[in-house]
Amino acid sequence: MTIALAEWSDILTVLHETYDLWSPGLRKDEYQEYIWRQMNEPWARRNYKFFVLKKDAKVVCSCKLYTVSLSRKGKRYQIGGLGAIYTMKKARGNGYASEIIREVVEYCFNNSYDGTILFSDIDPLFYERLGFIEFGSADFGAHLPKNQLISEYEPHAVTYVEASDVPEMISIYAKWLRTQPFGFHRSELYLKYKLGRERYLADHSTLAWPRLEITYAEENGTKTGYALTERGGHNLRVLELVGSEQARRQLWSKLVENAIAQRMHKLRGWESVATDLFPGFRLEKILNDESTQGRTFAPLTYSQRTWGRPMFMPFLDELDDLFEYFPCPILELDHL
Ligand SMILES: CC(C)(COP(=O)(O)OP(=O)(O)OC[C@H]1O[C@@H](n2cnc3c(N)ncnc32)[C@H](O)[C@@H]1OP(=O)(O)O)[C@@H](O)C(=O)NCCC(=O)NCCS
Repeated sequence: MTIALAEWSDILTVLHETYDLWSPGLRKDEYQEYIWRQMNEPWARRNYKFFVLKKDAKVVCSCKLYTVSLSRKGKRYQIGGLGAIYTMKKARGNGYASEIIREVVEYCFNNSYDGTILFSDIDPLFYERLGFIEFGSADFGAHLPKNQLISEYEPHAVTYVEASDVPEMISIYAKWLRTQPFGFHRSELYLKYKLGRERYLADHSTLAWPRLEITYAEENGTKTGYALTERGGHNLRVLELVGSEQARRQLWSKLVENAIAQRMHKLRGWESVATDLFPGFRLEKILNDESTQGRTFAPLTYSQRTWGRPMFMPFLDELDDLFEYFPCPILELDHL
């Protein structure tokens, strides 16, 4: 058996089964539209492939392949991102998922990719057996001080991210990326694709999918950083916090100050946004005196994520040391 690019009818067969598992609160027709739209975004037309494995002309297994660009020390690497690996229920336990992964990795190896990456929702051992190595991953939470005097501070109005923010975000991100050990290169089309997916869910999901909010840092009237956040109940989730060091300090202060003023209980996020707090992992580390105002912040709490765990397989020796970086700097929006 060899992998083949899926026809839309093959994809519908797969979506019929994956609906229960992966549809984020969408109706069946919306779930199909959501995938169809993604595949037809300008970025995806070039960088998104849907592979299937067939037995007796029937789809038994499927896997998406995204082509992303990893930036490191001023060099760019073409990486194959595997996602949505799925074996039809009746076909499980026959080695099909292992086979499709081996074949997609081989396809990448033979087509000038420099490595492959995936974000595991299952026991990473399965992918380790196939040659992937796990980066560290963690969910962090920081309880915000409660019942303390709220300052005169006027919380900022919530601003939702729009497609018109993309050029500014790209320019801030590109400067910031140069200061990072590594990360995904982002083009405007790529970011529009990512934000479009989020927006579709916020507009259609019955799960009250939150819209992404954006906060900018400014120095002398110029935007030097941004934070992407979303809120669920009393939690403020920080998805990205990007910019110069001064900008990031400003953003952490703004987020904390706003969150306290809005009576939020907790800041949450993944490992990549906690880099600023490393080592020590206390919010005081990044906040200026004005923001802490003598308040005490509990240390951050961490737990190992059971899903979305980044795993990498480099094809080049020079990429072997990527595993040395902790916390893993790949941002949440770049998860595939
Ligand atoms: C995970 C999945 C793709 C495996 O497909 P498969 O074709 O049965 O896999 P293979 O036959 O190549 O390998 C079987 C092995 O996968 C491993 N495996 C299966 N499900 C697993 C899970 N949830 N967690 C960890 N390992 C798992 C087991 O080691 C299994 O070996 P066993 O049968 O001896 O127990 C399939 O169960 C599936 O589609 N699950 C739902 C979607 C999903 O979770 N995809 C992965 C997203 S990261």
